[in-house]
Amino acid sequence: MVHNFNAGPSILPATVFEQAAAAIHDFNGTGLSILETGHRTPVFEAVMQEALDLSKELMHLSDNKEVMFLHGGATTQFFQVPMNFLPDNGKAVYLDGGTWGSKAAGEARLYGESNIIASSKDRNYTYIPKGYQIPSDAAYFHLTTNNTVEGTQMWEFPDTNVPVVADMSSDILSRQMDFNRFSLIYAGAQKNIGAAGVCMVVIDKDLLGRTCRKVPGMMDYRKHIENGSMLNTPPVFAVYVCLLTFRSGRQKSYERCIRHGGPRPGKGISPTVQGRGHDRDQGAP
Ligand SMILES: Cc1ncc(COP(=O)(O)O)c(C=O)c1O
Repeated sequence: MVHNFNAGPSILPATVFEQAAAAIHDFNGTGLSILETGHRTPVFEAVMQEALDLSKELMHLSDNKEVMFLHGGATTQFFQVPMNFLPDNGKAVYLDGGTWGSKAAGEARLYGESNIIASSKDRNYTYIPKGYQIPSDAAYFHLTTNNTVEGTQMWEFPDTNVPVVADMSSDILSRQMDFNRFSLIYAGAQKNIGAAGVCMVVIDKDLLGRTCRKVPGMMDYRKHIENGSMLNTPPVFAVYVCLLTFRSGRQKSYERCIRHGGPRPGKGISPTVQGRGHDRDQGAP
């Protein structure tokens, strides 16, 4: 048996691999591979719809949230977020808890003022900064829930009226959390829920009203929502793998409910990656 402790692509349930492999040969009995199935076909439209619906269900998202499956990985979100929500004369504030948060703050400087309000760089990112103030006039506050490279994870989140944007690439759906408290969540799927090539974005409809400049269609969240994440050809196979992981998570939560009398079936989150060994919950003294 091979154990994968890599901080790269995640371990996925065996059933996900079996079903994804089968779909490469014959997708849902259509006689075609999923790789040769058009995204405008009813069979794929059903996949996209179920992936959107199940992600909302597993995250217990309120009606005010929209989910998108976008190209470009989490790194695209480093600039797509400020491109849409950081006005030329505005400022965004960032928590610099590790490599990825630092990169995200750097990309925001292309569009406006991007200030790091707390950092753990002084001790090689070995702790999560605490005790910072979020300026009330900031366009948004950005944080990274799990610092993949350094191995620290956030467990406490600030109470603020400023919209909070969270990069959850490496721990999304790995633990119970109130996802509704975040105005925007993004996660490169390959880290925790699927295959490389798709990024899940959850956005608050109120935040969409704060869009501050004209952007190309592919960068405009509103256009992706209007088109049900099919503004252009979506990463069909990668979305399908996410759906299989969501189905597996829902099934596990159902089984757990039967065993332990836990939350109602379909209302709990089943971790795809539980307690990743490298993570530490640390705060500044
Ligand atoms: C927390 C975090 N953010 C962003 C990224 C970059 O993701 P992508 O390669 O999908 O752009 C990673 C990748 O490891 C990550 O772990």
